[in-house]
Amino acid sequence: MDIKQFEGRKRDHIRHALDPAHQTRKLGGLDQIHLHHEALPELAFREVTLSTSSLGQPIRTPFFVAGMTAGHPDAKTINARLAIACARRGWAMGVGSQRRELETQEPEARDLREQAPDLFLFANLGISQLISEPVEKIRRLVESIDAQALVIHANALQECLQPEGTPNFRGALKKLTEVCEKLGFPVILKETGCGFSPQTLKQLTEVGLRALDVSGLGGTHWGRIEGARAEEKNPGDLYALAAKTFAEWGEPTLDSVLTARKLLTGVEIWGSGGVRSGLDAAKLIALGAHRIGYAQPALESALQGEETLNRWMERQEFELKVALFCTGCKTPAELQNKEGVWKRNGN
Ligand SMILES: Cc1cc2nc3c(=O)[nH]c(=O)nc-3n(C[C@H](O)[C@H](O)[C@H](O)COP(=O)(O)O)c2cc1C
Repeated sequence: MDIKQFEGRKRDHIRHALDPAHQTRKLGGLDQIHLHHEALPELAFREVTLSTSSLGQPIRTPFFVAGMTAGHPDAKTINARLAIACARRGWAMGVGSQRRELETQEPEARDLREQAPDLFLFANLGISQLISEPVEKIRRLVESIDAQALVIHANALQECLQPEGTPNFRGALKKLTEVCEKLGFPVILKETGCGFSPQTLKQLTEVGLRALDVSGLGGTHWGRIEGARAEEKNPGDLYALAAKTFAEWGEPTLDSVLTARKLLTGVEIWGSGGVRSGLDAAKLIALGAHRIGYAQPALESALQGEETLNRWMERQEFELKVALFCTGCKTPAELQNKEGVWKRNGN
């Protein structure tokens, strides 16, 4: 791996992820969902709690910050800021891809555990790397940062539209099944903004995943980001042009959650990809999601400092509590199981 090129790419990704033109809000479907208002909730607001459970453990909130790659000059500071805030508030956190560590053997996120001993932390690796690495080496990645679970990311579109990409997913299902069986840590599969189709979800029923994080269309779009990178480097080249064609590619977060909930019984469904408020979170919970992840907005807030990050997190928590109260639910689990709490506009 060319480390200089790698670091440059990661810096580009952060810069382009912050550009509103690379967001796909209107395509995610969450604006179609209406939660029914209960004018007379039999509750006091102070009784409402975000406590729930996931992967067999009680958790203080259903929120997590989804994995984002480091490689930025300030990456350590940003990750530490996110980790400390997440641990304090009972959010989980994913690190970005540990691909680089496979070669350097130096965990970029090694210090996070010291800085945030109570943090629920997810390790992270891409499908292309998973396929070619032995399970033992993958287990070491999880242990090297003292994570509690492994997140595998699938990013087919991004790998195609990156000149340096590795679009080879042959053998992915078989390897995923092997890793789920032998790793000794819970395995979660996620997308990175293109979601999961019914066909893919059907293929995942017997793999042994503990959770599926849909990361669907509706937020950060890697086709757009790679397209912008290509356009900067070689205006009008093949990648830049193709990225325009694929600027709306993907399965919406809404549909991904609904279908996954139906098809993957026994697997926790996590909602991410375009979650931009505590109300979005409430909608996904009502549709069946267990945990709710934010990437780009968490990064944006963390870059502005600890106080901004904490205010942003507090707002997500408060908004979810308001949605729980106004739907007459004391907990996320009640909202998840409540019949008739939502409708899809236009249906
Ligand atoms: C700067 C940046 C870097 C990312 N790097 C990774 C990564 O290394 N591994 C991964 O699984 N997802 C990565 N993602 C994808 C996110 O985890 C998430 O799936 C996606 O951004 C959609 O969520 P959002 O709409 O809230 O941003 C990254 C996202 C951003 C914004």
